[in-house]
Amino acid sequence: MSFEIKSLSYVYQRGTPLETPALENVSFSIGDGEFVGIMGHTGCGKSTLLHLMAGLLPAPAGTVLIDGEDINRKGYDRSVLRRKLGVLFQFPESQLFESTVEKDVAFGLKHSGLSTKDIEQRVQWAIETVGLDYSRVKGQSPLGLSGGEKRRAAIAGVLAVQPRHLILDEPTVGLDPMGREALLELLVKLNRDGMTILMVSHDADSLGEAARRLLVLHQGHLAADGPIGQVFADMDAMADWGLGVSQSREAAGLLARKGLEVPQDITSYRQLLPAVLTALKGGGSP
Ligand SMILES: Nc1ncnc2c1ncn2[C@@H]1O[C@H](COP(=O)(O)OP(=O)(O)O)[C@@H](O)[C@H]1O
Ligand SMILES: [Mg+2]
Repeated sequence: MSFEIKSLSYVYQRGTPLETPALENVSFSIGDGEFVGIMGHTGCGKSTLLHLMAGLLPAPAGTVLIDGEDINRKGYDRSVLRRKLGVLFQFPESQLFESTVEKDVAFGLKHSGLSTKDIEQRVQWAIETVGLDYSRVKGQSPLGLSGGEKRRAAIAGVLAVQPRHLILDEPTVGLDPMGREALLELLVKLNRDGMTILMVSHDADSLGEAARRLLVLHQGHLAADGPIGQVFADMDAMADWGLGVSQSREAAGLLARKGLEVPQDITSYRQLLPAVLTALKGGGSP
């Protein structure tokens, strides 16, 4: 099991007039190689949850196990966690600070024990994996890259460590449609190659394409957890939580109301198109 979250609660500024409960009794597990999305209204505790899962906030109540190990246990080796868990917080490009892209991507490998040559190869691999031209960008200042390229460079820095698990907070925000598409393709490929991915996003279309399972957080509680097609199928519940579903799911619902037999657990365009074609051949009337 990649992650086991047990009865996790978190309160900011406990015992002060500014006390803010952020998470309450949240439990779930994520198996190796899953691609899980998290949705929830602003302020429902998504970022807090990711910070707790990454060990960036201590967990005063509840446990976080990663690969079966309690990351808050006294004596747990945090450097192991840094190697196995890649973390990409909101607007990761704001964390680029080295003088060249190459140095920035190599930053996390400083204490890896790898030789200079291995580091160079790893950096090249990571930069190419995110779709940047290694020979063009390696000596360039990260500040000279376009917005989408900066995001990719930041992701390359996380991938260079070759983590087994990756958690991302709103990775598609601010990207143009092509940048978003490329990022999703990359995440799907990494997941296919075995990486466990947990992605927080408001972007129902992106999650509908990439995630197979969806968690919904509502006011600090885990409100839903299931196959994304099943969670999106209950559009009323989603609306109650202040959330939309993917456009493809909406389209499937509209077509069904017009009498076309389209499955109602569709979440992506990739699923919608063949389903519509099959339904049309079946003689339903759109
Ligand atoms: N550093 C902080 N200090 C006090 N309250 C915070 C802090 N960070 C977040 N909160 C509060 O905790 C709740 C959950 O926030 P957050 O986890 O950022 O939600 P989300 O990522 O879903 O928008 C919100 O009410 C937010 O205002
Ligand atoms: Mg957040």
